[in-house]
Amino acid sequence: MDELSAQAILNGLRTSWLGRNVLFYEQTDSTNSVAASFAQQGAPEGTLVIADEQTAGRGRLGRPWVAPRGTCLLFSLLFRPSLEARRAQGVTMVCGLGLRQAVRGMTGLPAQLKWPNDLLLHGRKAGGMLTELSAQAGHLDYVVAGIGLNVNVDAAQLPPEFHATSLLAELGHSVSRVALLQRVLEEIEARYHELQTGVWPLQEWAAALDTLGQRVRLNTTQGTLDGRAEGVDEEGALLVRQDDGSVRRALVGDIVLVGHSPAG
Ligand code: BTN
Repeated sequence: MDELSAQAILNGLRTSWLGRNVLFYEQTDSTNSVAASFAQQGAPEGTLVIADEQTAGRGRLGRPWVAPRGTCLLFSLLFRPSLEARRAQGVTMVCGLGLRQAVRGMTGLPAQLKWPNDLLLHGRKAGGMLTELSAQAGHLDYVVAGIGLNVNVDAAQLPPEFHATSLLAELGHSVSRVALLQRVLEEIEARYHELQTGVWPLQEWAAALDTLGQRVRLNTTQGTLDGRAEGVDEEGALLVRQDDGSVRRALVGDIVLVGHSPAG
């Protein structure tokens, strides 16, 4: 088991501000909750809250996020972007892209993104992101991007209903969590700089999405949608062409079935 600590993370980290204020916990309830509470107390942009174990890790759509102690990356990043609240998805996009690139660069695995916030390895989920924000008068006050990545965990130890995988399961050997995290922080920082200068990462994000072009079944708060995932719009919403030819837009949802589209 590789040791996580603030000192180990800072040692050799090549970012200029992201992850430089580290709050490390051997155990906490949820790093997203801790980061939000520090954000409300004025913690600086770039603060990293990271834990070896979460007792109440949260996933999207009210699901739990489960990871055995000392095996995974469980962390939250605090951003204070100069963006309108409706542009918050840009932060999620740059984090997803940074995570994907770091996994590719460190392991050689063909990591992909699944709409909206999952990291896939050979079609199975190895990581996820939960972005939570606070806004005032339509402008972002802060964004907490929470990332969970299955690193050195035996896939059999993960909840079977998620059909999840891990870097260990895909590679057959363990990976340094510290080195991987440092790479993730470096990749995200570079992309976030671009976002702040007005570069909207939509094209790069859309190209990294495994979902596009596939036949999907999408569970949304308004019911189930079946069709072909045709694209994403400016705000990151998924555009699904239904069998009657109409296009539906989903900003929040969960893809529960994926297949090859007969439409090609
Ligand atoms: C999902 O795929 O549903 C999103 C999972 C996000 C999990 C991470 S683990 C670190 C951070 N703290 C949390 O409570 N959740 C996120």
